[in-house]
Amino acid sequence: MKTFKLATALAASVALPSIGLATELEVTHWWTSGGEAAAVAELAKAFDAAGDKWIDGAIAGGGGTARPIMISRITGGDPMGATQFNHGQQALELVEAGLMLDLTDVAEANNWKDIVYPPSLLDSCTVDGRIYCAPVNIHSPEWLWLSNKAYADAGIPVPTNWNEFVASAPALEAAGKIPLALGNQPWQSNLAFGAMTVAVAGLDVWKQVNVEKNMDVAAGAEMAAVFQAAADARKFAAKSNVQDWNQATNLVISGQAGGQIMGDWAQGEFQVAGQVAGTDYTCLPGLGLNAYLSTGGDAFYFPKLQDADKEAAQKRLAALMVSPEVQVAFNLKKGSLPIRGDIDLAAANDCMKKGLEILASGNLVPSGDQVWSPDVQKQNEDLMVEFWKSDMDPGAAHAQWVENLKSGL
Ligand code: BGC
Repeated sequence: MKTFKLATALAASVALPSIGLATELEVTHWWTSGGEAAAVAELAKAFDAAGDKWIDGAIAGGGGTARPIMISRITGGDPMGATQFNHGQQALELVEAGLMLDLTDVAEANNWKDIVYPPSLLDSCTVDGRIYCAPVNIHSPEWLWLSNKAYADAGIPVPTNWNEFVASAPALEAAGKIPLALGNQPWQSNLAFGAMTVAVAGLDVWKQVNVEKNMDVAAGAEMAAVFQAAADARKFAAKSNVQDWNQATNLVISGQAGGQIMGDWAQGEFQVAGQVAGTDYTCLPGLGLNAYLSTGGDAFYFPKLQDADKEAAQKRLAALMVSPEVQVAFNLKKGSLPIRGDIDLAAANDCMKKGLEILASGNLVPSGDQVWSPDVQKQNEDLMVEFWKSDMDPGAAHAQWVENLKSGL
């Protein structure tokens, strides 16, 4: 019997050389909604299939809850094998403190410089010429997701842009619907405000304020109009008493709410609910007014572990995340766009195709995380939640917002 077992084990080890050598890596992330869980499972599946072992470290409550936990584990001497951040400045201090693994050799061996598109994704992983993260997707936050059922119930057509959405709100309310679904977590109102800025003030104003950091424009009339529009919009969200973004998406999926301003990750929820783009729901990038994408997204960073085996596994995982097969499998479930253009996305749904068209058109801007520090982002999130959840005067909110931006100059 013993001999038989040994023989079987030997045979297995010949067929699958990595048996017994699997290296475990704990991977932390904040992907806990239905669509997100389905997407991250693709990463885990690929890592395990390649002979290592993904130990899932999902942290519930969104990025705002997860990031401080991740950071304190890394700075406190309890690092995980890999962790999600939005690429940009969120992990910058950790990199500068020498706590993150340098992935430049992986990037060079796999030609990341030639394949990652747009190049700003890799630039955001680069500090002093060295690469410290593996980008996994482009995530654009500025979409309006609409429930076709809510509008059918109210007997009015589905809006084609933000202005029509605003005009349709009274009819939705008369039909007992919540016009705008919005979760209570701070980042969600900040995201909605950012999307409305482009819709109401236009892309040029957004760039002048956020890229060129022109504080006169930030304090000017165009931005005042955005704050006024946001004050109008917050009435539409008054009855949306949910916390998580996916609970708000669920109000749209079930037809209780007309729409939600949310990132393209909402697609994953519609997909898990079996809904079809164009039939059950409608997606309007740039709120239907300015079709553009901001090209931030998710990236994985690998804390230094002082363990050669683990380090080798970290590098294997980094390479795998950027590989064509994993890019396709992950992004189709996630609703995000791949970070490389050389892969087959024939299976993309209508909304993802819209995203791919915008990407090809080059109508791209950086994400908030790429242009502002985590500190400025946090101040604005706090301000936005106060503004959207109270009757705070739009002028007062505008003045505070300008101060917040100035603190980051
Ligand atoms: C991430 C997305 C995620 C979303 C909601 C964003 O910060 O980039 O990947 O789906 O948060 O959890």
